[in-house]
Amino acid sequence: MLEVAQIFKRHFNSPPVHVVRAPGRLELLGNHTDYNDGLVMALAVDKYIEMAATPRNDGKIELVSSSFSGKEIFSANDFKKNPAAPWADYVKGVLAQLHQRGVHFNGFSAAVHGTIPMGAGMSSSAALEVATALLVRKLHPYALTEIGLAPAPQPNAKGAVPSPTHAEKLNLAKLCRAAEHEFVGVKVGLLDQISSLFGKASHVMDIDFRALTVELSPMPGEAIIVCNSGVKHSLVEDGYNELRENCEGAAKKLGATSLRSVDLKTLTASKSKLTDREYQCAYHVVSEIQRVVFAERALREDDHQQFGQYMFQSHESSRDFLKNSVPELDLLVELARKHPACLGARLTGGGFGGATINLVRHHQAPDFMAHMAREYEKSSGHKTQPILCQIVDGAA
Ligand code: GLA
Repeated sequence: MLEVAQIFKRHFNSPPVHVVRAPGRLELLGNHTDYNDGLVMALAVDKYIEMAATPRNDGKIELVSSSFSGKEIFSANDFKKNPAAPWADYVKGVLAQLHQRGVHFNGFSAAVHGTIPMGAGMSSSAALEVATALLVRKLHPYALTEIGLAPAPQPNAKGAVPSPTHAEKLNLAKLCRAAEHEFVGVKVGLLDQISSLFGKASHVMDIDFRALTVELSPMPGEAIIVCNSGVKHSLVEDGYNELRENCEGAAKKLGATSLRSVDLKTLTASKSKLTDREYQCAYHVVSEIQRVVFAERALREDDHQQFGQYMFQSHESSRDFLKNSVPELDLLVELARKHPACLGARLTGGGFGGATINLVRHHQAPDFMAHMAREYEKSSGHKTQPILCQIVDGAA
């Protein structure tokens, strides 16, 4: 039994009827390229948001979480923020979007349990959004289209609702993004939601955000290790929207739909049209997209060493041009670089704190993890507990 089912039983005195789980994601390469119609290599990893639920007939939704005390109760057609329970905003935001699109649902009791470290840039919030959307789909089957709803999928003889199709998953990802834009107020791209929904065990997702395609390539057997800086990462407070505005402002001044259609030569020749910040952000994005193209090739050719170099270059570009790194992340990357088994290291996700992702020779992973824990504490006074991640299937 998943832990969340036990938590549910403890709170609501009976086993749940439905259980879902959505994995967190790691951005392997492609920092802040998603909302610029760019390219990202991403992994779904074995840290999850799990939700367990049972329908109820008093029109109320009651949520409990293993990470926060108290319970959050609200009516199934009235979704207001409660400043005392901001974690529930991600659930309410998705419910509000479903409601707006005409998805009909009644009350339910639900427990939430997470193993994704919060604030580490591994997208616990997107996983909670995706888990909510899938949970409601189990409680009250629905199928989203681009513009509305298709006939609901029919449960099979055992009562199981078929998994969402590829197109439905894309629409679910967009709905979850809309929840984040409109309810939470951060203008994120689609990376986190797509990664949580489309992940495949032992594979890297090559995501093209202009074509909205996800290709899967086998991920080499090197170790993926996350080192959390311990610096709280908060997209709302720390200027994510400002980066996006600069990127979009640059594209507009260059007469492009997005930075995806700008090349480095054009960008450098047009420097005088842009503010310094616009230029720096655009420089990062345009070169990062190119790096993803080269890195995908390096991985296909099994050149892990070269792939790792692109990771280091990506970090430097985020640090120097996008300026979304912090000294603790830079330190983690430098400490990683000193270990002989480290192929590449970079900040992952939104930045402004959070974690680094490290590609490490598999047989030396334990030694690398001990090195990072020891050296980071020695140099910064902060503790880090490196996490070895397995690449897993997407949400279900
Ligand atoms: C956050 C956002 C994503 C993406 C990354 C940076 O995780 O939610 O959409 O922009 O930052 O690549």
